Amino acid sequence: MEVFISETYEEMSKAAAKVVAKTLNAKPDAVLGMATGSTPLGLYKELVRMHREEALDFSQCTTFNLDEYVGLPVTHEQSYHYFMHENFFKHVNIPLQNIYIPSGTTDNYPAFCEWYETRIEECGGIDIQILGIGSDGHIAFNEPTSSFNSRTRLKTLAEQTIDDNARFFEKRQDVPIYAITMGVGTILEAEHIILLANGENKADAVAAAVEGPVTSMITASALQLHPETDVFVDGPAATKLQMADYYNWIQKMKPGAPQM
Ligand code: PGA
Repeated sequence: MEVFISETYEEMSKAAAKVVAKTLNAKPDAVLGMATGSTPLGLYKELVRMHREEALDFSQCTTFNLDEYVGLPVTHEQSYHYFMHENFFKHVNIPLQNIYIPSGTTDNYPAFCEWYETRIEECGGIDIQILGIGSDGHIAFNEPTSSFNSRTRLKTLAEQTIDDNARFFEKRQDVPIYAITMGVGTILEAEHIILLANGENKADAVAAAVEGPVTSMITASALQLHPETDVFVDGPAATKLQMADYYNWIQKMKPGAPQM
């Protein structure tokens, strides 16, 4: 894992966007793994800016989203379908047929989940996966105790997650209880992973994921087993990292390192 600490959310978002743009420039038909939530909004905004001002081209790429609430139609403002179109897809040039988001309204979840896994495989696997982290340490909707071998499936959300996400709904009772989510095992197969976290309320989860023991109680800690994960955090989310000075030192010394 490599940890990049930025002072502000905006700087963090820009640093992460550079990594996505680099992947896309090197491989125009890259497969991107997309995330929702408040965390990646700045990253999407920066990618849209790069598309408009620097001609960053998405015309050949394919995307797979991590998760979706069960029961919300795609037109529901809190569905992840709606979120992705409003905040990203409608502003860039990804062909609609190259966009995959788990269905929250299928009448056969096991078959859909299997199909979703197969589509990822058929498209050559995910080149770069964007992730946020829940305050309970989850990645996608892989709540505590999700197996590190888990695949795309239906999950019951933790009450902590329902509480955290209630801010987006009129009433807490409106938050769906179930979601369809890529598994930890699915995520670990991505070639490159970038995890973003901002704000004080993520500081404990970030420290546990990066420096704590590898445990299914914090599913983000599985990323310690992944060979190419970059963690982008802002100042408040970095406050509980014991090795913060070391991560900053690495970035400072990197330009002088012998080329590998
Ligand atoms: P958030 O959600 O970006 O809205 O904080 C992150 C997550 O639960 O993965």
